[in-house]
Amino acid sequence: MRPSDNSAGSFYITTPIYYVNDLPHVGHSYTTIAADVHARYHRLLGEPVLFSTGTDEHGQKVARSAEARGMKPQEFVDEVVAGWQRMWERLHIDYDRFIRTTDPHHVLAVQHVFRRLRESGDIYLGEYQGWYCIPCETHLLESELVDGCCPQCQRAVEQVTEPAYFFRTSAYADRLREHIERNPEFILPESRRNEVLSFIKEGLRDVCVSRSRTEWDIPVPDDETQSIYVWFDALANYLSQVGYPDNQDELAKWWPPTLQLVGKDILTRFHATLWPAMLMALDLPLPDAIFAHGWWISAEGDKISKSRGNVLDPYEVAQELAEISGATTSVAVDSLRYFLLREVTFGLDGSFSWRGLLTRFNADLANDLGNLLNRTLPLVERYLDKKIPHPGPGAGELGPEIDRVRNLVEEEMAESDFSAALAAIWQLIASANKFLDSREPWTLHKESKQVELEAVLYDVVDCVRVLGIMVSPFMPESADEIWRQLGLEATQIEKSWRDCHAMEMPSDIAIAPGRPIFPRVDIERATDRLQARREHDKKSQQDQVPATGASAISIEQFAQLELRVGTVLEAHRIPGADKLLRLIIDLGEDQPRQVVAGIAEQFNPRELLNVNVVVVANLAPTTIRGVESQGMILAAGGEKPEAMIVTDRVCPPGTIVR
Ligand code: MSP
Repeated sequence: MRPSDNSAGSFYITTPIYYVNDLPHVGHSYTTIAADVHARYHRLLGEPVLFSTGTDEHGQKVARSAEARGMKPQEFVDEVVAGWQRMWERLHIDYDRFIRTTDPHHVLAVQHVFRRLRESGDIYLGEYQGWYCIPCETHLLESELVDGCCPQCQRAVEQVTEPAYFFRTSAYADRLREHIERNPEFILPESRRNEVLSFIKEGLRDVCVSRSRTEWDIPVPDDETQSIYVWFDALANYLSQVGYPDNQDELAKWWPPTLQLVGKDILTRFHATLWPAMLMALDLPLPDAIFAHGWWISAEGDKISKSRGNVLDPYEVAQELAEISGATTSVAVDSLRYFLLREVTFGLDGSFSWRGLLTRFNADLANDLGNLLNRTLPLVERYLDKKIPHPGPGAGELGPEIDRVRNLVEEEMAESDFSAALAAIWQLIASANKFLDSREPWTLHKESKQVELEAVLYDVVDCVRVLGIMVSPFMPESADEIWRQLGLEATQIEKSWRDCHAMEMPSDIAIAPGRPIFPRVDIERATDRLQARREHDKKSQQDQVPATGASAISIEQFAQLELRVGTVLEAHRIPGADKLLRLIIDLGEDQPRQVVAGIAEQFNPRELLNVNVVVVANLAPTTIRGVESQGMILAAGGEKPEAMIVTDRVCPPGTIVR
């Protein structure tokens, strides 16, 4: 990432806006922490910074999640968004703007974009026919399906045919390719840029940007039959964040974004093609850079996702780390931030393991940084009566090293290589530790070489001050604690990148040593303890009787489920869908219902005929593989059904089950 070429020289950084039907996990936190580090770093540099994030709240998926909880979509999103904001606060994320796609000014901005592009002919009415993945809100080509399922989330897709508006992405393919070729910094890292270029070279197809009208989406202006496609709506957030279309001052101040961070999964089809094509059609400058980072996967090598049940709540991880180490939760949060950005080069994938986290915590934080502070301050306390000395002759020896590292950090940050920037900062920590070892202030004291002693201790304390500034974007609260222990809080000197030079430490102030910030962890004991806790959690989940607590549902919630006995009248295989059966079930209603069930591998259609099954009768209808399903039948077993839930005595179809 190069400094912005936008007119005001400002730094506008964005994260994707997050889907609200998920809880924030380590993966989402990664993008947001990285953006926060950049924002804090650029604020330290004294630049005007706008750091925006938010939530993506429309889409059928959200409407369905709300319905499943017996809530109105707005109620549901309000509740969930509060959870996201709470998480960001807990992770020390200091954003400037938080947009919700349900914000009225965003809705107006999206409709404005849509209207403008329809007027210019970039959006036209056509017919959409094909597959749609509801969880990912993505239209898919037949060739993109994997085993008939969504390549992204591996779940079933639906067949849809409907009139729809299309955005003429194809018209911008050449211009976009040229732009990417001419601006090597536009799509980062380079490997992703190449992927995007080959994607464009295969030809861009027009993107369907509307769907049949749904209640919970932004309506297409002047066409009541259609709603705006959630990705079109979501991408426009980067514009509405900065006052588009009305607030020209805001736009002039911040547009275009300096850096847009996204995960690699949402780069090619969305941020690197649809998004810049939309901007070209709107005659707006493109962002300076879009950086796609890699994915965090679990220690077992699986994608982290709710459906796999391996979601890591970052705040719970920090709380556990605090418990294990004795550090404050705030410091533990910072340590997790440090780990995520240090462990893997930004752009590559990483696998999250506790052992990895604890090893870094001990080696880098407790041993290197913590130890430097824990040995320096007691020396000042013992030999200099807690007072920072005057630099005096001979001081400033670490100056060249500080300058070298500062330059290196600046270079690495300009490339968004957080891991390398941290590695550079750790070189300075190593140099300061080495300096103390070689200059032996304890010997200088013994030999009463007071001037030399003061010069050495001044230099080390001064270097710790610089380190406090340098680590502050990554570990803001720990840096504040370093600042406090150095006695700088009382001076009201603010951290500033300009002060990352030697000899800026004020003299005569009193240091305020405190508890070690990063206490060492006994890794073997800690991992045994974690293992025991995991096993205990697993066991209690298995014997779970959710009588009380957050996971328990109320009797009122249970009463919302309408379970009824149904007699299977017909059972058919669905061509091309090996796992599915289409059942016709009598529920005692005027018409029998059609239900699609994923039981074809375990049950023969014939053995189901006339069986009295249990049906969830008030589930919103959905279309699975082009077949409408008007309910769900209950079966025992996890992913794979093992036995059907049937009644042991004859009872009429439609009988309620409680
Ligand atoms: N709502 C869309 C984005 C619209 S932006 C105009 C979306 N939301 S998301 O909640 O699914 O994902 C948001 C971000 O989290 C993406 O950048 C995604 O890559 C990132 N991550 C989600 N899981 C992740 C990991 N396990 N690892 C790293 N980042 C991942 O997509």
